[in-house]
Amino acid sequence: MAPVKDLPETNSSLENGRLPRHVAIIMDGNGRWAQQRGLLRIKGHAAGVDAARTVIRLARNLGISYLTLFAFSEENWQRPAMEIKAIMGLLRRYLAQELREMQDNQIAFKAIGNLQQLPAAVQRDLAHTTEATAAGAKMVLTLALSYGGRSEIVQAVQALAQEIKAGRLQPGEIDATLFSRYLYTGDMPDPDLLIRTSGECRLSNFLLWQSAYTELYLTDTLWPDFREEEFIKALQSYQQRERRFGLTQEQIEALNASNSRH
Ligand code: IPE
Ligand code: IPE
Ligand code: MG
Repeated sequence: MAPVKDLPETNSSLENGRLPRHVAIIMDGNGRWAQQRGLLRIKGHAAGVDAARTVIRLARNLGISYLTLFAFSEENWQRPAMEIKAIMGLLRRYLAQELREMQDNQIAFKAIGNLQQLPAAVQRDLAHTTEATAAGAKMVLTLALSYGGRSEIVQAVQALAQEIKAGRLQPGEIDATLFSRYLYTGDMPDPDLLIRTSGECRLSNFLLWQSAYTELYLTDTLWPDFREEEFIKALQSYQQRERRFGLTQEQIEALNASNSRH
């Protein structure tokens, strides 16, 4: 993996600001990228894998702790069977090819979503990759597969209801913190920055609960064209944001001043 010093020049402009701890990305636009070139959609997905590899490496080198990539939604099951098959094939190949690099670079792999819906071979590969990279302590790389935010919330409600039924929990004990722990992302912080490529301005059922106070970065760039420079631009944009969490600007300034004193 390329060390940080080999990164493009623009990287130096990130040095003085705070990086997001958790970046989530809706990797959209593979089909249009292929169409523009007169190629089959699947060629766009293959190019999308290259973009994902580039962004994962850069996130790891920059020291981002959590990277969550939306790779396949629950709604995407409605796509043509051939396209789904091709995406699953690309995923399996990616996992096999990248395992060593993930291990060498201390990346812990995770998959979230309704994973039981995935083909058995994919489930096996995901479980193997997760196990084989569990010791990775530098970055958590999460792929959202067969993922839907509403389903995730519903399964959390079901699990909580079971706890209540079993007498292990009182309804009044449920608060936002406890609820968060029942989501697939229970052991991760909420995303600080959510990127969506290809010009669409919607969440498409991604991390609905977790994105309550996430900064959004929308770009017209199609996912296969989203490379180092684009990612750095998104991070620079994040660094220029002022996150207020419902407070006034004066309150935020006072908090920042007291944080910098401690
Ligand atoms: C995103 O690209 C990848 C998946 C949803 C699997 P698309 O395949 O949605 O590309 P567009 O939106 O059709 O261009
Ligand atoms: C969202 O993209 C899902 C992924 C990127 C995996 P879609 O292309 O499925 O979203 P819509 O249909 O445009 O909302
Ligand atoms: Mg799309």
